[in-house]
Parts: sequence; structure tokens; C-alpha cells
Amino acid sequence: MQKIVILTGAGISAESGLGTFRDEGGLWAQHRIEDVATPEGFARDPALVHGFYNARRAQAAAAEPNPAHRALARLQAEHPGEVVLITQNVDALHEAGGADPVLHMHGTLAGALCAACDHRWVAPAQMHPGQPCPACRAPTGRPDVVWFGEMPYHMEEIYAHLAEADLFAAVGTSGEVYPAAAFVDEVQAAGAHTVELNLAPSATTSRFAERRYGPASETVPAWVAELLA
Ligand code: APR
Repeated sequence: MQKIVILTGAGISAESGLGTFRDEGGLWAQHRIEDVATPEGFARDPALVHGFYNARRAQAAAAEPNPAHRALARLQAEHPGEVVLITQNVDALHEAGGADPVLHMHGTLAGALCAACDHRWVAPAQMHPGQPCPACRAPTGRPDVVWFGEMPYHMEEIYAHLAEADLFAAVGTSGEVYPAAAFVDEVQAAGAHTVELNLAPSATTSRFAERRYGPASETVPAWVAELLA
């Protein structure tokens, strides 16, 4: 039975009102990555970093899944073969749209992590510098989000899925950040068919066998309907 592996990026949540990173006016036009998305930035100014993630946590909590999120959940529920959903996104819109399981390779806004003892817990709406860890009490709570220079999560499991994929789709990602941007090469080596569903050609668009351009809320439901027909 056909195994489908899907990678999503910020573009799938754009129509839910969440900003992307590299589009016009995106998050990396508003903040310097080194200030808000690196361990060094957090050490330098934890209040700035907590403020950045508190704002994103509030926006994500107020956002609704869009037809693209719901269509991937439908595919997961109705496709007879395995559908593995990997996301670079830290919002919970895939889950809100009915997807289960979801592999968050860059962590989640909903998660908190203790930098001292690795304990994880559900993040409060607002975190602050010196956030106490519920387990070891150290003042070292941080967002459980993977920053630049840190290892993405679930990589062993992800590479095992990529090796077995019959069909790989990348949705709403610019193909600018590794290791996610190289997933298409991994599955090509395994002989999978590859499709990119994006608003515009990504940096890796030439590495896909098939491309469908347009807003995810239109392209993804149409693609899923074809697969389930
Ligand atoms: N429908 C489909 N695609 C869209 C839409 C839309 N409505 N709007 C934007 N896009 C596409 C853009 O064309 C772009 O290719 O989504 C992509 C967003 O790219 P990025 O902003 O770079 O987001 P992403 O690829 O997820 O970034 C990867 O970089 O900063 C790190 O950790 C962060 O997970 C993030 C990673």
C-alpha cells in the first residue's frame, strides 16, 4: 500500500493568519534570527526571546486551521496506507485540523523545556526570564522550540520514514533550511514520486518531479481529493 510522507512549512499556516519567515514582511524581516532564534540570543536577552515566543504563542492560540490542514488530516484518516506528517511549524494547527500523529521537528510553541534537566511540560501562555522548572526548580525554563544550531527532533524516525516513502510532498516551505530541505533528495534516492505544493517556486523546486503552485488552501485539498479518488 502506498506510503505517503509529507513535510510542511510556514506557508501552510499563512492563510490561518500566522506569518511566515521569509516572505515579504515575514518574521525574519521583523527580528534578527541571531537575536530570537539561537541559544546565544536567549542567553544574551531572555526577555526579548520570551517576548518573541509569547507573541507567537498567543497568535497561534487564536488561529484556526485552514482547508489545507484539514485536507492533510483527511488524507491521514482515509488513505489506506501510512501517511506520515512532518512539520517544521511550531503551531498546533495540524492537530487542530484533526491530524494525528504529527512530527514537530522544530518543537512546539505549546511546549516548555528545562535547559538544566531536560524536563518538558506544557508551556504557560506567557513565559518569562527565570521561568522555574516544575521538576528541578531551576530558573531555566525556555520554549521547547529548536533554535538554529540545535538538533531538530525525531530525525532518526524521519529518515526511516523517508527511506520507505512511495510519495513525498513538501507543502509551504521555502526549502531554505536544512536538514528539512534535503528530504526531497533522500526520498528521490529511495525511488519515491515527489511533489511540491507551494505559493511560488521554492529554493529546491527543481528537485521535485511535480510542482503545484497556488495557495495551500486550494492546492492541498485538490491534491488530497485526487489521491483519495
Ligand atoms: N500557500 C502555500 N505556500 C505559501 C503560502 C500559501 N498561502 N504563503 C507562503 N507560502 C510559501 C512561500 O512561498 C515560502 O516558500 O511558504 C514558504 C514559507 O517559507 P519560510 O517563510 O522560509 O518558512 P519555512 O520554509 O517553514 O521555514 C523553515 O526556517 O526559520 C526557520 O525554524 C524556522 O521552521 C522554520 C524554517
